Amino acid sequence: MWLPPSNVIEAVTHVDPWPFYRQLREERPLYFDQGLRIWVASSYAVINEALHLEMLRVRPPAEPVPQVLRGTAAGEVFAQLVRMTDGSFHAAHKPAVAQAARRWTLADVARASEAATAELWATQDFMHELPVQTMARLLGVPGAQLADTCRWVQAFVRGIAPGADLAAVSLAADAATALMAQGQALGLQPVQAANRIALMQQSLDATAGLLGQTALLLAQHPSLAAAADHSLDAMRGFVAEVERHGAPVQNTRRFAAGRVLLAGQWIAAGQGVLLVLASANRDVALNPQPDQFDPQRGARHSMGFGAGVHVCPGASVAIEIVASCVRRIRAGGQFDACFGRPAGFQPSGNTRIPVFTR
Ligand code: HEM
Repeated sequence: MWLPPSNVIEAVTHVDPWPFYRQLREERPLYFDQGLRIWVASSYAVINEALHLEMLRVRPPAEPVPQVLRGTAAGEVFAQLVRMTDGSFHAAHKPAVAQAARRWTLADVARASEAATAELWATQDFMHELPVQTMARLLGVPGAQLADTCRWVQAFVRGIAPGADLAAVSLAADAATALMAQGQALGLQPVQAANRIALMQQSLDATAGLLGQTALLLAQHPSLAAAADHSLDAMRGFVAEVERHGAPVQNTRRFAAGRVLLAGQWIAAGQGVLLVLASANRDVALNPQPDQFDPQRGARHSMGFGAGVHVCPGASVAIEIVASCVRRIRAGGQFDACFGRPAGFQPSGNTRIPVFTR
């Protein structure tokens, strides 16, 4: 038997966080966690309300760019990302990012994912390389630059993560310079070049989590896996259910730009609210029989790709990347060699990414 997680950050990588999330939803769907110094929202109703409140922003109002990144090339990119901005800047640039993510057909995505899978499946860091390399292929990065581009995107992601050390920030700055130069060589304006990076950077950990969780569930449910093998559409349903059921992005944060009322509770200016998207997906108010894993579920609802103005523009791309990848691996008989034995989850405060030993 294992002990339940002691807070929502530990829950992200806990072997079974779901009873803990259920208890939160039922007993205190919005509370202030004294240890973490943040409000925690866990029911669908509160999370949905929070994601639609204009006063709850994606960055702390006093620190739009993390202090450690200021004055670096990584900070310049960060300041222009739709993921990290709100208000008129976000409203002006989000449509172009969403449009950019919609420009590929599912067949384009499937081809790019299969090509990347064929090249990468035996590599050590396959789960993280696959989404970035697929996005880089879709974005037209020449073959000779694919490896460097993936390395730069990973360095950028590591360096902008909370708690990154100065060495990581410095590597992220070099990576940002290289990636911006790539975009500008294509004739893009700086804001477009920055959000071209976003299309690769945002794919990285979340899609690695989706791929890893899909591998876990395919192994756990052989008969459902066999049904999913019948067609790409059936595998898409399987992956979409993995996303709803397991929520690779377990939580996201918002910060009050002023005093704001959420679910009848005043949140003070500057305070943070952690939204447990994974818990919302298991709320009976969002899905009937939410704990059941059912790839053929009728109307499936998920908060795992966010909601409101910051909703993920890459949801169908991510599902297609993973569905095409696992189909190719299973058809090639490489599944066991590729994923090996499950060995817990990668340390993270928001993304649930399985680890495998091979
Ligand atoms: C190809 C893969 C992906 C791409 C290109 C992508 C792209 C993006 C971008 C550009 C944003 C920022 C949108 C904005 O702030 O207006 C975003 C947000 C988001 N994405 Fe994705 N994403 C991908 C995969 C995923 C996956 C697999 C998940 C989870 C299963 C995910 C979950 C989210 C969530 C929860 C947000 C909103 C965060 C928030 O509102 O705080 N994404 N994504």
